[in-house]
Amino acid sequence: MTGGERPYLVGLTLAGRRVVVVGGGTVAQRRLPALLAAGADVEVVAPDVTPAVEGMATARELRWIARPYRDGDLDGAWYALAATDDPQVNATVATAAERARVFCVRADDAPGGTAVTPAVGEHDGLTVGVLAGGRPRRSAAVRTALVESLQAGIVPVDRVDAEPVRPGVALVGGGPGDPELITVRGRRLLARADVVVTDRLAPRDLLDELAPHVEVIDASKIPYGRAMNQERINELLVEHARAGRFVVRLKGGDPYVFGRGFEEVLACAEAGVPVTVTPGVTSAFAVPSVADVPVSHRGVAHEVVVVSGHVAPGHPQSLTDWGALARLRGTIVLMMGVERIGAFADALLAGGRPADTPVAVVQDGTTRIQRTVRTTLASAAADMRAHEIAPPAVIVIGPVAGLVDGPVSE
Ligand SMILES: C[S@@+](CC[C@H](N)C(=O)[O-])C[C@H]1O[C@@H](n2cnc3c(N)ncnc32)[C@H](O)[C@@H]1O
Repeated sequence: MTGGERPYLVGLTLAGRRVVVVGGGTVAQRRLPALLAAGADVEVVAPDVTPAVEGMATARELRWIARPYRDGDLDGAWYALAATDDPQVNATVATAAERARVFCVRADDAPGGTAVTPAVGEHDGLTVGVLAGGRPRRSAAVRTALVESLQAGIVPVDRVDAEPVRPGVALVGGGPGDPELITVRGRRLLARADVVVTDRLAPRDLLDELAPHVEVIDASKIPYGRAMNQERINELLVEHARAGRFVVRLKGGDPYVFGRGFEEVLACAEAGVPVTVTPGVTSAFAVPSVADVPVSHRGVAHEVVVVSGHVAPGHPQSLTDWGALARLRGTIVLMMGVERIGAFADALLAGGRPADTPVAVVQDGTTRIQRTVRTTLASAAADMRAHEIAPPAVIVIGPVAGLVDGPVSE
């Protein structure tokens, strides 16, 4: 490029077209996924490449020519990237590209090439590209802000492009509570909802972002308290979808981890209502994680079992073999276990789990009121009572709970 002219922003159709990337370091590595996603026929020319680029070659996503750049390497190319750490090689590639009329990005010196890569973001079938006149931090920041606004529904895409949202139900895992821990897809679906059927443990801060016309239905099941029964929840999902609405069923954690999500999916499918599932970050792993309790740790725990404490050991409806759990040396993650912790601890102790097995209890994990109690299997019930631990809490039993005495990460 020459002086002060503005670059012409364009979308290239690269599917099946030869693209040559000279260099196989981290700069090339960053650009390659988008080229591959565009279906380009990519050849990387470089004596050495990063392990990730080598992995793409091994998986036959691209061809790696393991040698330095040579004259003629751009033959037949539609687009080229000069991304070596040697400015002279990059200049040679750019000159050859100019001669051959192949648009070329020069990674080390944007004006020395004939194309520049915009900061790119994707959202729901939209591609956002930003150029900031050679100020890559600025373009990246604007791109990120735009994509986040789209994800949060702040830019009302649906009203602008008027693309109708198909009626149906989206079952969305909302993560453990922190509104930032929902998935990008979950947040996007939420921004399109006409009706949101929410749970007590779903990230409630997100409800505040919903447009005024969105109907919010509280389907909370309060432990040992008020509850909307599952059949009524299933009916509501079906009724609203049949009335032509897009319903988001927002659940805490992952919909299928002790969440009865599959019952809702089956109810929709049986009623002929289109239904999709978006997984979520489960509290079983995320809540211990934010309290510095890794559910597995090299040389310490090679197994993790997630157990429901919904019914007591020995209860006719119990499907859990507490004797087998007691014989494990690894990690037990006990959910919904606050009320009956005494019975669970007794069952594990009776089955041979040592009394001094570390236990970490994390209440309201990832929220502003998160708190942690560290104890042992023998003392867990008394300590939880003393600290007035109340649901929701995740109880981690096993040596991973004793790796540290208190918080280590910020
Ligand atoms: C009915 S289960 C639902 C689990 C959810 N589907 C998931 O994947 O996280 C409810 C239990 O999850 C745990 N739980 C969910 N969110 C939690 C949080 N923020 N902090 C601590 N425990 C939580 C508690 O054990 C609670 O009793």
